Amino acid sequence: MFLQTIMLAARAKGLHTCAEAAIANYPDIVRRELNITRDWIVICGMAMGYADPDAVVNTFQPPRIELQEYAMFLD
Ligand SMILES: Cc1cc2nc3c(=O)[nH]c(=O)nc-3n(C[C@H](O)[C@H](O)[C@H](O)COP(=O)(O)O)c2cc1C
Repeated sequence: MFLQTIMLAARAKGLHTCAEAAIANYPDIVRRELNITRDWIVICGMAMGYADPDAVVNTFQPPRIELQEYAMFLD
């Protein structure tokens, strides 16, 4: 949830992000590369920068289910 706050703030500043939970499968590599100790738990990574709209990978549009399929709004 905190990641989402950062991601939204990044968009407000013109930056793009991509959350990457898969990095948690490689905690020892992350710790080694970032020089962090074993008492830190690697949960999720996040790329941040300026997206290249011409990159083919950035043209991928994942399918989405309709809002009412995953949310319920109560008055
Ligand atoms: C917390 C979180 C972790 C994510 N981890 C991964 C991941 O490890 N690998 C992956 O392919 N997508 C992951 N995603 C999905 C992508 O970050 C991204 O949401 C997806 O490419 C669709 O982009 P969009 O949400 O801007 O449409 C994750 C999303 C969230 C919210």
